[in-house]
Amino acid sequence: MRAWKPGRWLVSPRTLLLAVALAGGLLLSACGDMMALQPAYQRQDYPILPFPTNSVPVSGAQTAWTQQTATAATNPLNQQQAAPAGKELYQVNCRMCHGNDAKGTGAIAYAFPPHPADLTSAQVQQQSDGQLFWAITNGFGRMPAFGKRLTDTQRWQLVSYVRTLK
Ligand code: HEC
Repeated sequence: MRAWKPGRWLVSPRTLLLAVALAGGLLLSACGDMMALQPAYQRQDYPILPFPTNSVPVSGAQTAWTQQTATAATNPLNQQQAAPAGKELYQVNCRMCHGNDAKGTGAIAYAFPPHPADLTSAQVQQQSDGQLFWAITNGFGRMPAFGKRLTDTQRWQLVSYVRTLK
């Protein structure tokens, strides 16, 4: 080994650069793994972070509905007053499947069976408010559940609106 003289590199600059790049890469990939462990939602995740246990939403605690408690419940809202808000919610959340006329002719689901229910039909209208509320809360067949997407009040508003379709 040649003696080191001032102005000479112990390691060649190219080797040094490579070592730095490698270390940087390792560090970055380690961070990547750490990120995966964070409670942030990932690309395909539903954008809701886990809540701390026992936390209550600012809108107040939501009822944990079961089929029994929901179907036995009566609409706590005044139907006539709640229907317009329900109609707005319908346009955003239901129309693409159940259709503008609510007869199950929405653009998305009309193409494949079973068609979304005709909400004006006797089969739907003969059901109690609580039964409709449960169908919206829990989902029905291919219909998604809205229990976690809409508040209790919003779902009762939807029930109120569905009632105006008789
Ligand atoms: C992705 C499409 C889709 C969306 C969105 C959707 N539904 Fe449905 N819905 C369906 C289908 C399909 C059925 C019939 C399922 C079956 O017969 O198996 C149905 C059935 C129903 C029924 C009848 C349930 C029963 O017991 O007969 C009601 C009431 C209803 N939907 C209301 C709503 C309301 C209110 C919304 C909006 C909050 C909504 N749906 C959003 C597809 C949808």
